[in-house]
Amino acid sequence: MIYLDNAATSYPKPPEVIDAVRNAMENIGGNPGRGGHAGALAGGKIIENCREKAAEYLGAEKPEQVVFCFNCTDALNTAIRGTLHEGDEVIVSHAEHNAVMRPLMGYHDAGKITLRILPPEANGLLSPDTVRAAINGKTALCILCHASNVTGILQPAREIAAVCHAQGVPLLLDAAQTAGTEDIAAVNADMIALPGHKGLLGPMGTGLLCLRHGMLPRPLREGGTGSVSESLRQPAMLPDRYESGTANLPGIAGLNAGLDFVMRHGSAIREYEHTLASRLRNGLKNIHGVTVYGADHAPQTAVISFNVGTMESGEAADALNRQNIALRGGLHCAPSIHAWLGTTQNGAVRASIGPFNTEQDIDALLLAVQHLSQT
Ligand SMILES: Cc1ncc(COP(=O)(O)O)c(C=O)c1O
Repeated sequence: MIYLDNAATSYPKPPEVIDAVRNAMENIGGNPGRGGHAGALAGGKIIENCREKAAEYLGAEKPEQVVFCFNCTDALNTAIRGTLHEGDEVIVSHAEHNAVMRPLMGYHDAGKITLRILPPEANGLLSPDTVRAAINGKTALCILCHASNVTGILQPAREIAAVCHAQGVPLLLDAAQTAGTEDIAAVNADMIALPGHKGLLGPMGTGLLCLRHGMLPRPLREGGTGSVSESLRQPAMLPDRYESGTANLPGIAGLNAGLDFVMRHGSAIREYEHTLASRLRNGLKNIHGVTVYGADHAPQTAVISFNVGTMESGEAADALNRQNIALRGGLHCAPSIHAWLGTTQNGAVRASIGPFNTEQDIDALLLAVQHLSQT
């Protein structure tokens, strides 16, 4: 199978990630933080090691500012639900995923918040000036999808963070599509939500929330933390405040190895993926009847969406899947950006490249699309 659905979850995982998961399951008998025996301590060590690494990667001042979550949606929900109060205003980009929009629309529909969805410039970029003009005394949070999971367009997050900070508004960065490839730390966001299972190459069921600049949202879950057990109340200290219940140790062990891989390779992954993405984009543009969406005049990640003639995107994706090319059609849980692209009706076929794809994978997709366009 040629796997080109890395924006959903990365595959394959590096062998060391699989080894780390296996090691945690085979050799570590114990619940981290829940006892002083060797297994519990060994599990706790892996978790702390991964936390330290993630803090370094994300530019957190202290490891405890990194909280383990179950995916990016879980991290976003913690940040959003834990920060907002009745009467608040929230500003978001047009490119947000439903992981952001659905919690916000719930509050909006209940009359609890005012939601302002900011339009992009013609090139798909949200202007920092638009953000500046939208902020008022009630703005409690700005949320930005760092890169769209549909077009790959990479927003000027650093400039937008500076605008937010100048006006005292925290920025929550959805780094679902930039973790592992872009310099997330340089954005200087106040909260960063990211999956462990996409660009960080860890297992599914892992995610991170990084809390910087003193951010302290209310926790989504409360319960046993293995700490301050004499108290019936949730500990205030980080990271225990957010990490109730048994951790996903095999997942975190795998994420630890994934982070190692990503940090060891640095910007080489991004450069490699970009070379393949350019090959794909240029190749698709040369196929008669194919429409390629997104970023001709903006920086982007290695995500490319397209359509073949007037064919419904799910149908086109199914035809390609039958040829053993795994990619995704439809609306990708991001209806607003499809509305902006004018693809609400048909959706789009999305190819998303990972570090283990090859030129041959890209050429095989191009050939298959060429054939499809002639049917
Ligand atoms: C931009 C964006 N945000 C959030 C998410 C949700 O991530 P997860 O599946 O880890 O919950 C995704 C998933 O594809 C995404 O692309």
